[in-house]
Amino acid sequence: MKWIEVNSYDEMSAVAANIFTEQLKAKPASILGLATGGSPVGMYKELVKRQQAGDITFKNVKTFNLDEYVGLDQSSPASYWTFMHENLFNHVDMKEENIQLPNGKVDDLAAECVAYDDRIAEAGGIDLQLLGIGVNGHIGFNEPGTSFTSLTNIVELTESTRTENAIYFDDPADVPTQAITMGIQSIMNAKAIVLIAFGEKKLEAIEKLKSGVVTEDFPASQLLNHPNVTIIYGGTK
Ligand code: F6R
Repeated sequence: MKWIEVNSYDEMSAVAANIFTEQLKAKPASILGLATGGSPVGMYKELVKRQQAGDITFKNVKTFNLDEYVGLDQSSPASYWTFMHENLFNHVDMKEENIQLPNGKVDDLAAECVAYDDRIAEAGGIDLQLLGIGVNGHIGFNEPGTSFTSLTNIVELTESTRTENAIYFDDPADVPTQAITMGIQSIMNAKAIVLIAFGEKKLEAIEKLKSGVVTEDFPASQLLNHPNVTIIYGGTK
């Protein structure tokens, strides 16, 4: 595991954008695994700038997002589909048909879970996966206690995660209670992983990860068993 300590959110974003830029230059038809949330917004801004300057292209890139809420329409302002379009896809030369998020609005959610992992495998597997981390160590929506062998699945959101995510909804009561998320094993299948975390709130989670203890009580700890993970982190108490 490679640790890169940074001094600011902007530095974290630039360092992460450099890794994605290198990936796209080395393999223009890369399969990227993407995340939503506050952590990647700056990196997406940086990638938009670089694409618009002609430094990189997303023309042949395929993306798979980690997760989506269950029960929200894609077009809902709080959906991860909307988040990704507003923060990245609408501003770069991505083809809409190359964009994939799990669909939390289908009748047969169990079939969608299996189909999502199949679609990733059919595309050739994820070359580079971006992750944020929850204060409780969650990655994707995989909360503490999730099996390390989990594939894409439906999860009940914990109150802590619903509270953290309430800022994206008009009314905290509107935060869905379930989500569809790539499992820990689906994430571990990526060839390379970059995890970004900045700020005081994340320090405890980063310290726990650094302690080297691998346990299902702290989902991100399974990343210690992956051969190619870069953690870009920073922030002070
Ligand atoms: C987002 C996701 C989550 C977030 C995590 C950190 O797609 O799967 O695991 O990465 O909750 O969120 P932020 O970046 O908002 O602190």
